[in-house]
Amino acid sequence: MFIYYDSKTGNVQRFIDKLKKERPKWSFIKINETMEVENSGHLITFTTKFGEIPETTVEFLKKENNRNFIKSVSSSGNMNWGTLFGVAADKISREYNISILMKFELSGTQPQVEYFINYVENDN
Ligand SMILES: Cc1cc2nc3c(=O)[nH]c(=O)nc-3n(C[C@H](O)[C@H](O)[C@H](O)COP(=O)(O)O)c2cc1C
Repeated sequence: MFIYYDSKTGNVQRFIDKLKKERPKWSFIKINETMEVENSGHLITFTTKFGEIPETTVEFLKKENNRNFIKSVSSSGNMNWGTLFGVAADKISREYNISILMKFELSGTQPQVEYFINYVENDN
C-alpha cells in the first residue's frame, strides 16, 4: 500500500508515524513538487492559508499521471478555522474528482488512525 503525504509543520508527519507503527510494511512517501509516482495510493495533506491547498500538493496534483494514481484524499486541519476546517480535501475532491477519505485535527487521534487503515484496507 502506498501513502503519499504533504506536511509543513509536522502534524501530518506525526499522523504518518502513527500509521507506520500499525502498518510497518506500507510505503509512506513525502511528496515534492517534481516527483512522478508509479503506484496507486492515498494522499494525505493539510489545509493552509484560509482554506487553501498547500503549494507542494497543488504542484503534485498538476501532473495528470500523479492524480490518476490517487484513490482518496484526506486533510489535516484545525477546527478553530470553523467552516474552513480541512477544506483542502473538499477542493481537491472537486477539482480532481478524487474521493475524500477523512479530515482530522492536527496529528489525528488513535481511532482516526484506525478508521484510515480500515478504509484503505477495504477499498478496492
Ligand atoms: C497559516 C495557517 C493557515 C491555516 N489555515 C487553515 C485552514 O484554513 N483550515 C484548517 O482546517 N486548518 C488550517 N490551518 C491548520 C493546519 O491545517 C494544521 O495545523 C495542520 O495540522 C498542519 O499540518 P502540518 O503540520 O503537517 O503542516 C492553518 C495553519 C496555518 C499555520
